[in-house]
Amino acid sequence: MRDNGRVNEILRPIVRPRRLRTSAAMRDLVAETTLRPGQLVLPAFVREGASEPTPIGSMPGVVQHTRDSLRKAAVEAAEAGLRGIMLFGVPETKDAAGSGATDPDGILNVAIADVVSEVGDALVVMGDLCLDEFTDHGHCGVLDGAGRVDNDATLERYADMAVVQARAGAGMVGPSGMMDGQVAVIRDALDRAGFTDTGILAYSAKYASAFYGPFREAVDSALQGDRRTYQQDGRRDGREGVREALLDIEEGADVVMVKPALAYLDVLRQVADAAAELGVPTAAYNISGEYSMVEAAAAHGWIDREAAILETLTSIRRAGAGIILTYWATEAARLLARS
Ligand code: PBG
Repeated sequence: MRDNGRVNEILRPIVRPRRLRTSAAMRDLVAETTLRPGQLVLPAFVREGASEPTPIGSMPGVVQHTRDSLRKAAVEAAEAGLRGIMLFGVPETKDAAGSGATDPDGILNVAIADVVSEVGDALVVMGDLCLDEFTDHGHCGVLDGAGRVDNDATLERYADMAVVQARAGAGMVGPSGMMDGQVAVIRDALDRAGFTDTGILAYSAKYASAFYGPFREAVDSALQGDRRTYQQDGRRDGREGVREALLDIEEGADVVMVKPALAYLDVLRQVADAAAELGVPTAAYNISGEYSMVEAAAAHGWIDREAAILETLTSIRRAGAGIILTYWATEAARLLARS
């Protein structure tokens, strides 16, 4: 750039993108991507019969709640400015049909009612609608004679599960099992039972992923085999994710979701654009393994934890998610309030 002490006129930049980075005020002024507490949803686990919250080793800072501690966490979430909570039940006993899922006294359903009675309308109370927490084989559906996940038999279980969750007071149900036709069947069952206002947050583009690892510990699940016959293959391009989302929208999904988030940010962008054309919001799930990686690196002092959390959530927003499910939701909301 300098030539004998003089700036070389030819190389002097005329366009200087750095001007827009010169101060914190300037950077704030031009930032397109916003992150606010109301866009965050807290996923929370509740364990049947527990008298104390149980730490989840592979997810430092996350616990399997007792019914009581869950109520408190929900209040804290609402006070921090979150607008949603997604509940997962950890039943005491599991069986092949996942009976606990449709038992009105099952842990997930009583927990939904607990949280609704505690926070009222302050949070959209959502129930994960899937059988894997409740089955002894750990699959998202019931198995046929050959040990394969039986799509259509599973749909009947999902229909019942949706109605039980709605009766418990869920504002939205979150079908996450990747069965074909699940949204249509659930919408129909809810409507027939009179729950026309109960929404569906569809896990539409859900990929078979190694990053679900810590979740298995969170719900005490020992999965037999893998889920590649129903969850998506990450080698397909994003158009398959768009197809799944459009099908769910046709079937009546109110919100579509991409999961995991970080390894699928390109799919998220494509799905968010396609859904936005139809006026449908897109969510993304910042899943257990994504959480644990940051926590593990931060525990070693290898990265700045709080900065990494906000950068992670910002990347998911930037890729098109209007709503983010994240285990950091309450803490992130507090961080945002401070900044
Ligand atoms: C299915 C469900 C899973 C997650 C959310 N809903 C597990 C799976 O599909 O394997 C994963 C969430 C996470 O890893 O944080 N019940």
